Amino acid sequence: MMDGLESLATRWIGRWAEPRFDAVEATRDLTPAVVVTGGSSGIGLALAHQFARHSQAIVLIARTPSRLEAAVLEIGQRHPNVRVEQLSLDISSPEAIDALSSWLAERRLYCDVLVNNAAIGHSGPFSAAPTARLEALIATNVAAVARLTRAVLPAMIARGRGGILTISSLGALIPGPHQAAYYASKAFALSLTEAIASEAAGRGVRIAVVLPGPVETRFHARMDAEGSLYRHLLAAATPERVAALSVRSYRLGRRVIAPGFVPTVAVPFLRILPHAVSVPIVNWLLDTGRPALRSDEDKSSPQL
Ligand SMILES: NC(=O)c1ccc[n+]([C@@H]2O[C@H](COP(=O)([O-])OP(=O)(O)OC[C@H]3O[C@@H](n4cnc5c(N)ncnc54)[C@H](OP(=O)(O)O)[C@@H]3O)[C@@H](O)[C@H]2O)c1
Repeated sequence: MMDGLESLATRWIGRWAEPRFDAVEATRDLTPAVVVTGGSSGIGLALAHQFARHSQAIVLIARTPSRLEAAVLEIGQRHPNVRVEQLSLDISSPEAIDALSSWLAERRLYCDVLVNNAAIGHSGPFSAAPTARLEALIATNVAAVARLTRAVLPAMIARGRGGILTISSLGALIPGPHQAAYYASKAFALSLTEAIASEAAGRGVRIAVVLPGPVETRFHARMDAEGSLYRHLLAAATPERVAALSVRSYRLGRRVIAPGFVPTVAVPFLRILPHAVSVPIVNWLLDTGRPALRSDEDKSSPQL
């Protein structure tokens, strides 16, 4: 049933596709890979497991080699017929695209599906955010998503097939006081993906964005948000459930994916609720109680 619906969706997505002979020929002896940024843990690892059920090769990208090794082992054990590779790479670096491109070519792989999943967060008042952290957040969540997407999309359109799945957040729909830069970065991912999906409609490339609510991963602790109220008041989904629902909707050709009951209800609600009402509630839920100034950095860096 699912396979039948997927092939109907594939036909619709490729209704105006004009695969170019040279582009298709260029990949004839190569293996199509699903490239998952941030594939070593949390939602990325769970997505890699889901894609492994229907793919020939999976490439996991993250910075920490030990976590990558563990993830490759885990996927390999559960999906012994799938080729699983790891690439230790910081996607926030401007050189990451060249590094990934030559790494794939050396292994006779090409990117058939890009999963833009890696991201970092920051919690606490924007006025006290270390500037290095803000720059890393924008480089990872905004610049890398745009660069990777721009790098893979032309070849996918030329082949008349492929896919880009970008993980945004419910936070994309509202400003997020105390996680201001993170929420803004997720709004960028949502807006970019919906726009590109419209530009490339019918050309054979599945382009979708996922808006999860809270998910139980290391993400919250890594951005020091465990003290925020939302961690105690809002139930968190498992990464496995989010990944299963997301890949299912992606295969069916959905563009904006709300994985689960809470996101499905929250998306239309957040789209119509005035910010005058929603932002104070989010402010309350995300407040970390940390002070609005970091005197150490502010004393040593120029103030305007
Ligand atoms: N958890 C939630 O509640 C939630 C809710 C909505 C949306 N999301 C989104 O879901 C996605 C995955 O988050 P998660 O919760 O699964 O977080 P996670 O467990 O912290 O995983 C993040 C992954 O990204 C990798 N990563 C981070 N920076 C990187 C970089 N510069 N280069 C390469 N890899 C990098 C991490 O590995 P290394 O650190 O080793 O590089 C790790 O594999 C993110 O886009 C997040 O915004 C999460």
